[in-house]
Amino acid sequence: MRRPLVAGNWKMHGSRAENARLIEALVEASDTATCEVVVCPPCVYLWEIGRQLKDSTIALGSQDVCAEAQGAFTGEVSAAMLKDVGCSYALVGHSERRALYREDDALVARKFVAAQAGGLTPILCVGETLEERERGVTEEVVGRQLDAVLALAGVAAFGRALIAYEPVWAIGTGKTATPEQAQDVHRFIRDRIVARDATIGGAVRLLYGGSVKAANAAELFAKPDVDGGLVGGASLKADEFVRICAAAA
Ligand code: PGA
Repeated sequence: MRRPLVAGNWKMHGSRAENARLIEALVEASDTATCEVVVCPPCVYLWEIGRQLKDSTIALGSQDVCAEAQGAFTGEVSAAMLKDVGCSYALVGHSERRALYREDDALVARKFVAAQAGGLTPILCVGETLEERERGVTEEVVGRQLDAVLALAGVAAFGRALIAYEPVWAIGTGKTATPEQAQDVHRFIRDRIVARDATIGGAVRLLYGGSVKAANAAELFAKPDVDGGLVGGASLKADEFVRICAAAA
């Protein structure tokens, strides 16, 4: 049985005051949540939020991680530093990083390895653009994104990682993939891992991301290979996010 997980990706939103209000509401609701909950605030707030979450069941994640362990990499933050301020998870290869900051499959794979080396559990994001879906190459694209990480990290690394399927056309657009579309790609992803190791493939948790909200979460999470969600916009509203977590539990 795979324990459901819901991660909130705050992206570049929030302030110390807004964060405190959101965290207070989430912590209050978290006693009743039986799914694993992770929040991924902007890097600069991690330390403070980590302290606010100290006695809660909510885990802390970063939105990105440097592929290098330390050194002359101005502006970057290493996995060990993220771990040091209380993170246990790191998003890797989010489509905004891939598209806006030119992160290619090879760099994403290095970030995945660096996250694990620094003691973090990577949440590897994969997904196709609208143009790719319309051309019928969704599996080719997602397969390529996965294979790059499998080649560098090996299948065993997926025993300590999650994968988030986030169709780019569904992120922040209000256009959610149908539960069937999500399930089809999740099945494809699981099969690709199972082909290399049945135990690891069967156990790896697959999150769906892209306009998840309280109104559509339950039907998405009901699919057999959807083990939770990666939630952007809706993770900034406490009541909405709590209802999404409840739908996963
Ligand atoms: P969204 O973002 O829920 O706002 O679509 C999801 C994500 O980018 O992780």
